[in-house]
Amino acid sequence: MRIDVVTIFPDYLSALDLSLVGKARASGILDLRVHDLRDWTTDRHRTVDDTPFGGGAGMVMRPDVWGRAIDDVSGRGSERGADQGAHLLLPTPSGDTFTQRTAERLAEADHLVVACGRYEGIDARVAEHYRATGTTVSELSIGDYVLNGGEVAALVMIEAVARLLPGVVGNPHSLVEESHGAAGLLEYPVYTKPPTWAEHDVPDVLLSGHHARIERWRRDEALRRTVVRRPDMVEALDVAGLDAHDLQV
Ligand code: ADE
Repeated sequence: MRIDVVTIFPDYLSALDLSLVGKARASGILDLRVHDLRDWTTDRHRTVDDTPFGGGAGMVMRPDVWGRAIDDVSGRGSERGADQGAHLLLPTPSGDTFTQRTAERLAEADHLVVACGRYEGIDARVAEHYRATGTTVSELSIGDYVLNGGEVAALVMIEAVARLLPGVVGNPHSLVEESHGAAGLLEYPVYTKPPTWAEHDVPDVLLSGHHARIERWRRDEALRRTVVRRPDMVEALDVAGLDAHDLQV
């Protein structure tokens, strides 16, 4: 997969050199390129923003600068011809909520272009123009809070997508049981050695070696956690997938 990130703060994205995403880049699974938006400015001051039409606080990012940047990194107008396959992501607190399902869908793409807005955001014509000209555009929020810009949201989304690419997470089974996975439940609590720590014991069942009982206990705990912490997820559960034991939890 190729991902191009355009930002006025390329250093924010340096965390993507680390850990599993860093390894995915080094091994060639992920071709991630970070660009400075100011490389597409044309004035002496390398201006990327201006005052909002209609008045109000703050500054808005200019569509002309963004248009040149996105065209270039997505391959539009190059000798190779337009890359209609590039999927444009615009992190914004006013976007659709980014979820594990969004990450799964994006992990299928060949090429993502992430445009990190700052200030009051990017001129709305940018999303409008790329949608109108056949690019898939997703305006996405990572949660109901406001960050200073799209960079941290881009980090979140790129990590969530990259770990789904084949070969990135060593044991693919660890993707199956985790929170927000196919079961629609939060993950059960996990324990390791020592069996007693600070007068707290690991639940006996996990030391029993009895696989069926362990499975049952884990499912009960996952359900219990989900009921307490995320009643909204319980509402979305498929009742047909629950057994009589589940309903007693
Ligand atoms: N930019 C600022 N806040 C954001 C959020 N919550 N999600 C995505 N992008 C953002």
